[in-house]
Amino acid sequence: MAKEIPCFELNTGAKIPSVGLGTWQSEAGLVGQAVETAVKVGYRHIDCARAYGNEKEIGSVLKKLFDDGVVKREDLFITSKLWCTDHAPEDVPVALDKSLEELQLDYLDLYLIHWPVRRRKGSVGFKPEDLVPADIPNTWKAMEALYDTGKARAIGVSNFSTKKLGDLLDVACVPPAVNQVECHPSWQQTKLREFCKSKGVHLSGYSPLGSPGTVWLKSDVIKHPVIVTTAEKLGKTPAQVAIRWGLQMGHSVLPKSTHESRIKENFDVFDWFIPHDLFAKFSEIDQARLLRGTSFVHEKFGSFKTVEDLWDGEL
Ligand code: A2P
Repeated sequence: MAKEIPCFELNTGAKIPSVGLGTWQSEAGLVGQAVETAVKVGYRHIDCARAYGNEKEIGSVLKKLFDDGVVKREDLFITSKLWCTDHAPEDVPVALDKSLEELQLDYLDLYLIHWPVRRRKGSVGFKPEDLVPADIPNTWKAMEALYDTGKARAIGVSNFSTKKLGDLLDVACVPPAVNQVECHPSWQQTKLREFCKSKGVHLSGYSPLGSPGTVWLKSDVIKHPVIVTTAEKLGKTPAQVAIRWGLQMGHSVLPKSTHESRIKENFDVFDWFIPHDLFAKFSEIDQARLLRGTSFVHEKFGSFKTVEDLWDGEL
């Protein structure tokens, strides 16, 4: 029987496990095994999205894990996300149903608007001419309706700037439970973190290692001297230090891996901590957003002409 892992409480009263398995860029043929390994190691939170194109394989593995009695549905926390092509209010419940069907679930623990960006219904890929103006208040109403049905036990957003989250909170009847955003020692989300805290919105951090496998990023987050030195002093790996930093900052963390040894390593972060003197050094790390969302902006199409508009200057 796996140990209980630390959780954070959402504004719904539900608990979100503090470490979840990320599945963005987890390839077909590997993602199922990764989920199975993770659950057997003790992960209870799997972060999915329709846009990742791998929910079907994840669903088959979840079914097997339930059928074999490895874990019960109610002990898992499963997130999925509404893709940009499905923002029209009538498309929102259809998109959720597709994710539920592929994941072979009756409900999600958390359903997020993936980006504050809309694309033409049915469009595939990232062509600029498919960007159309978003209407977040209307899409959010449809998300609230899903919350009312119980098919999404919590609803939230992803990739929302402080301003966009504030604008949504101003009109929401059900406030978002989560804003899932890029967050790691080299992009600490200081402003958004404070705002989320003041409004009771839980911040969840994706790319906690700085997404080192994303070829077009050339990320060296876990090579930063503060992380490497901390890891050496504590006898941990740089990845573990980056994940542990997130937990100590108070947000949930979603490391992705399809390798058994790393899945285990990334979960071995609960029975030690970064002491105060070493933790304080993290505030000296230069800050830069890695995932800038350039394919979500265009001078002629959609809602945002520039990345500055997309992030309201938080870059
Ligand atoms: P892989 O899936 O081949 O193990 P992030 O969660 O920040 O998006 O980072 C995911 C990337 O980091 C993937 O390329 C993943 O590779 C790699 N990764 C995951 N865990 C570790 C680890 N413990 N040490 C080094 N790289 C890791």
